Amino acid sequence: MTELSAEQIVELSLKHTLYDWQQQGITRPLAVASARGCEFFTVEGKRYLDFNSQLMGVNIGHADPRVAEAISEQARTMPYITPFAATEVRALLGQKLATILPGDIDKVFFTLGGAEANENAIRIAKAVTGRHKVLARYRSYHGATYATISLTGDPRRWGNEPGMPGVIHVLDPYHGTERGTDDAATALAYLEETIMLEGPQTIAAFILEPVTGTNGILVPPDGYLQGVRELCDRHGILMIADEVMSGFGRTGEWFAVNHWGVVPDIVTMAKGLTSSYVPLGAVGLRPKVYSYFDEHVFWGGLTYNSHPLGLAAALATIRVYEEDGLLEHTRKMGEVMARHHRELLDKHASVGLVRNLGLFGILELVRNRQTREPMAPFNGASDEMKAIGTFLDEKGLFTMIRWNGIMTNPPLPITEEQLAEGFAIIDEALTLHADPAVTG
Ligand SMILES: Cc1ncc(COP(=O)(O)O)c(C=O)c1O
Repeated sequence: MTELSAEQIVELSLKHTLYDWQQQGITRPLAVASARGCEFFTVEGKRYLDFNSQLMGVNIGHADPRVAEAISEQARTMPYITPFAATEVRALLGQKLATILPGDIDKVFFTLGGAEANENAIRIAKAVTGRHKVLARYRSYHGATYATISLTGDPRRWGNEPGMPGVIHVLDPYHGTERGTDDAATALAYLEETIMLEGPQTIAAFILEPVTGTNGILVPPDGYLQGVRELCDRHGILMIADEVMSGFGRTGEWFAVNHWGVVPDIVTMAKGLTSSYVPLGAVGLRPKVYSYFDEHVFWGGLTYNSHPLGLAAALATIRVYEEDGLLEHTRKMGEVMARHHRELLDKHASVGLVRNLGLFGILELVRNRQTREPMAPFNGASDEMKAIGTFLDEKGLFTMIRWNGIMTNPPLPITEEQLAEGFAIIDEALTLHADPAVTG
């Protein structure tokens, strides 16, 4: 029970705190009181099935007592110590991450979240290469700090421009429902041309989400990431894999790059690292990158680098992935999700495209089967997508609806029954609110 009513909680939160990415006057947050497993509950007692792991981060499910206990134990022993100290939890987590990170990546720099991880990845790439430009993709999100919102390709960047100099945006293999996806060779030829025109000797790094998250759960065509790796090697460009959303089991592997056997030079992570229980991010580095700092100063630092509460949460979270076999479970449930997606694709005229890798999934809706015009335009909304959002909310299904997409990214312990429950609600929403609008 909360002391304040739902109404008071909403009113005070709105009055005294700022909300992300929206006009404050029209936002209406949900007053949430508790969460457990794949569900959460409002102050008024309404249950929601979480089909998006909040911001695709609560990978092990909500309120796992094993992680809660580790955080509380660390809080009782030593909640904070200077980042210049060595601690047992730092030693153990560093060692553990070295065993699960791709390839020979065996050293990390701890941050507070994803943006800080990317910010430091760029700092490191520039220092190590002595170059100043960074390639990033348009359909991407890398964070909301000055450098990372500049790297971000999606429209959240627009309101923050002009940004950091030296960022070059390139197109993705994916071009939307109407144009579809380039094959790997076409996408790589375009990328190589951009590199040539920019001057490879000026480019420090290429940062990319191996499987793009908020911009549409974009799974690259086979060969694309291997080709990116090869191009980066050929031109001395560091490959930075932003695995903030795709890492830690989301795709059924520890990291999405593992699906293609690619080892980036730098990998960034956050979210699933602690299952979002405590803010923590990290930058993972290969020896060929971090050895530079054996002879040179690392000009970076954070009061909360290696914060013991975050590290204790991460160590306990990784144990949960292992103890509960969550990677394997995700691969199995990913097949179940793919089956639901296919059924909806076959049944509904409004479902134009479906994609998933593990429990990282999306349905893209169209209003015309022939032209494949999306149900809402790029960076826009539509009455149909709004009606679907309202319906899912009424039925207690929490997910993210973005433009013409419905995200399906539940916590990894989700069961077949819970997947069936969520997809049945989406099925009904499509019948009522999307199919009637379809022409062609
Ligand atoms: C791929 C990716 N990178 C970076 C970030 C930024 O992380 P944070 O919000 O923890 O700064 C996000 C957040 O959604 C993300 O999805």
